[in-house]
Amino acid sequence: MVTVRQPLQGDRPGLLDLAQRWPAGSYVLLQDEDGFYVLDDNKLDDPNWCVLVAIDDSAGGVVGYLVGQNRASLLPMPIPAGQTAELEEIGVLTEHQRKGIGTLLVRKFEEWARRKCFTAVYLGGGAAPGFYEKLGYRRVGYCYFVKTL
Ligand SMILES: CC(C)(COP(=O)(O)OP(=O)(O)OC[C@H]1O[C@@H](n2cnc3c(N)ncnc32)[C@H](O)[C@@H]1OP(=O)(O)O)[C@@H](O)C(=O)NCCC(=O)NCCS
Repeated sequence: MVTVRQPLQGDRPGLLDLAQRWPAGSYVLLQDEDGFYVLDDNKLDDPNWCVLVAIDDSAGGVVGYLVGQNRASLLPMPIPAGQTAELEEIGVLTEHQRKGIGTLLVRKFEEWARRKCFTAVYLGGGAAPGFYEKLGYRRVGYCYFVKTL
């Protein structure tokens, strides 16, 4: 069974490993003075950021993660500034994809955004447009997607 929640202390190695796979560099990583990646504790604790992990105990821990934040819309459409959340990155371990884990992560992020009274979630989703469309996101422009909450 897969659980989605905020990362606990014991999830940190798995989250670090997964975030380092993010091709363009992850929002939750910083480099220490020796050039090694470490988790950005500020983002993990900041109420303006939402960091989630998907945990599958039978698979040894973290199998997916999501990072999003409170961010005024950059979209070419009339969503009032300050009322949107941006889904910045999402990743599921290759061998755990297409089992609904990405869906669980996005739904939990939408719950977070609703609790904060945001009106919409948006994202740049060039790598997996079909995934976002399946979850009810509407394409806006070249590679942005938006969902009104
Ligand atoms: C995109 C990603 C997060 C989806 O996670 P997932 O756990 O595999 O997604 P789900 O199993 O919840 O998929 C739900 C539905 O979305 C669609 N979908 C999932 N991945 C897709 C993809 N890569 N391309 C197109 N449609 C996709 C499918 O319709 C799927 O339903 P189905 O399996 O019944 O056909 C995952 O593939 C991933 O980590 N990819 C690598 C990193 C990445 O591309 N991140 C997104 C950058 S924009």
